Amino acid sequence: MAAVCDSDSPVSVISARLTGATHMACSRTLGLLHLFLVWLHVSGQRPEAPGDNGGWGLDSSLHDEGHCSVDVRDVNSITHAEFIREYAYTKPVILRGLSDNTRFRLLCTKANLLRKYSAKTVRLSTANTHSYRKVDVQFEEFVKFLLNPQSEDTLGSDTLYFFGDNNFTEWHSLFEEYTSPSYHLPYTSPAYSFGIAGPGTGVPFHWHGPGYSEVIYGRKRWFLYPPEEAPEFHPNQTTLYWVTHSYPTLELWNRPLECTIRPGEVLYFPDRWWHATLNLDTSVFISTFLG
Ligand SMILES: *[C@@H]1O[C@H](CO)[C@@H](O)[C@H](O)[C@H]1NC(C)=O
Ligand SMILES: *[C@@H]1O[C@H](CO)[C@@H](O)[C@H](O)[C@H]1NC(C)=O
Repeated sequence: MAAVCDSDSPVSVISARLTGATHMACSRTLGLLHLFLVWLHVSGQRPEAPGDNGGWGLDSSLHDEGHCSVDVRDVNSITHAEFIREYAYTKPVILRGLSDNTRFRLLCTKANLLRKYSAKTVRLSTANTHSYRKVDVQFEEFVKFLLNPQSEDTLGSDTLYFFGDNNFTEWHSLFEEYTSPSYHLPYTSPAYSFGIAGPGTGVPFHWHGPGYSEVIYGRKRWFLYPPEEAPEFHPNQTTLYWVTHSYPTLELWNRPLECTIRPGEVLYFPDRWWHATLNLDTSVFISTFLG
């Protein structure tokens, strides 16, 4: 039985325990494991594991992450000064390991957000370029009924999206746990927008000031064009429609910069760069606008 205890697999250890096959050499391991399981049960929070999506679920149909043509830099390989010189005013970059939001991530599990914000009202916007319509719903209603996978033929003007318009009074205790990307731009101050969206949703091309986007759960694919290269798109069509119908017809020279970001990475976009996003999974995300 000692062989079972030597195994790295917690499953075999658990099954050893369940069959009563304990052994003196195992008891310490099993004791620790038991404490760990009790902790899991009490805290109701699973430790972060690869593929852990905080209870928000993964989507099976949108696995294609596409290729990545945006520079990806580990934060240990680039200083703040180099970021300013090479990217801040010239091109997008993805920074890895810039901040540790492990704690914020735990607060953003589906169970934790529902526990705390179920009865709160959230303001949804239509996912078209000019966001015409706003709809107020209870957070619980949004999570249970509106966080659906996007279908390709739904118009952006008919797709409700929870992003921005956050009530910073009610969500204050959550947002204050967020560690924003530490590489700021001179003469700007950060403003946050928090959102949750279903797989296949995303905002179509638009532009504004510079900022960062970070996914807390789920993967988000980004498409970017420089300010002087306005992409062709219909403002009421979703990104999913654009990706399926317009993107494949683009000439190579006309392709956007693109990449899929995952938790632990932040994407920086400079001032007035055109961008569109596509959530590959149910995503919890936060943007830091540098105004
Ligand atoms: C934000 O929430 C507070 C407290 O519930 C409420 O009084 C206030 O009207 C809300 N603000 C907005 C803009 O909805
Ligand atoms: C987009 O949809 C909105 C809302 O349905 C509508 O008012 C607007 O005219 C549409 N824009 C275009 C360019 O079709």
